[in-house]
Amino acid sequence: MTPIQSCILEKNKHVRPIWIMRQAGRYLPEFRSLRKKNKNFIKLCLNEKIVPEITLQPLKRFDLDAAIIFSDILMIPFGLNQKVTFTKDLGPDLSNIKLEEILEASTERFINKLKPVYESIKTTSKNKILINKDLIGFVGAPWTLLVYMINNVSPKKGLKKKFFKRKNEFKDFLEIIDKFTKLHILYQIKNGATIIQIFDSWAGLVQEKDLEELVYIPTKRIVEYVQSLKVPVICFPRGIKNYKKFTSYVMPDALSIDYEVNPKKILEEIQIPVQGGLNPKVLLGDKDLIKKEALKYTNIFKNHPYIFNLGHGVLPETDPNMVEYLVKFIKNN
Ligand code: CP3
Repeated sequence: MTPIQSCILEKNKHVRPIWIMRQAGRYLPEFRSLRKKNKNFIKLCLNEKIVPEITLQPLKRFDLDAAIIFSDILMIPFGLNQKVTFTKDLGPDLSNIKLEEILEASTERFINKLKPVYESIKTTSKNKILINKDLIGFVGAPWTLLVYMINNVSPKKGLKKKFFKRKNEFKDFLEIIDKFTKLHILYQIKNGATIIQIFDSWAGLVQEKDLEELVYIPTKRIVEYVQSLKVPVICFPRGIKNYKKFTSYVMPDALSIDYEVNPKKILEEIQIPVQGGLNPKVLLGDKDLIKKEALKYTNIFKNHPYIFNLGHGVLPETDPNMVEYLVKFIKNN
């Protein structure tokens, strides 16, 4: 069993696996040079030759316990025929989509459009570098996908008025997203993904009274589906207040926490394995700071199954030497 599987499934407190969100990304010069030649991000995610290479770039440098497939949560709207573009520094931009259009979306067409993603997973999973390591597949949580699909852009500065105007469509949208998310998960697993992570980056935007309908129930349906395929599932609901309630309702196999979560409080509140937490900004500091902050997490979770990770993606301005220092520090302590 891989270290991460042992941590999650056997509740093994003695393994201390590590992987890093956005570990294949702009902080790596070898990624930037490929990215420069591939300006269209969606096309890059569909490039069967380059995706396995990018996915494994960080594993060639660092002793990580998992690769995460280089893709994006917005590949699902793309598969549903919504236009998705990424402009430098502005983030994703999605075209307007009507409910009727996605109600008609065909599963064959979706699978065909995303076939290169699955082929890349298959190729990556066969690489010897992944022996005794996991290949993480992922999806966005239904709510977070709904946000991007209807709001068109990141809700960093809040959701648009027009988002709330379409509230009566949420239920139907979530139903379709559920169907295609499950399909996307099935094909990732069939082709070699050994763990699924669900990213709910915008869970924190939902009011307490709507959490059950918009976050808990849709996420639980996806969690149960992954578990029915006998694959562990990690949830990363960013910005929610009540992790105890989330965990007891949704029942993922592990919970990934962001850097605003108090790790001591999490330890008191939940029993399942925990992942992450370290503020990505710590990696912009010196080695003493990295050591001190990493120790904070390993000490708090020393008697709890814990996967070391950050509390959000590694920042593009990070020095890869500092990532190397962190990985070595975790592996040797
Ligand atoms: O973690 C990994 O290394 C795997 C790959 C991965 C990407 N996106 C690649 C990516 C994963 C797991 C994601 C998830 C994702 N994508 C989320 C959930 C996590 C989170 O960040 O909250 C979200 C909300 C998205 C949508 C998305 N994709 C945004 C908002 C952006 C722009 C922000 C940015 O960092 O530029 C992207 C682009 C994106 N996805 C990049 C990468 C490496 C940067 C693209 C580039 O090279 O310009």
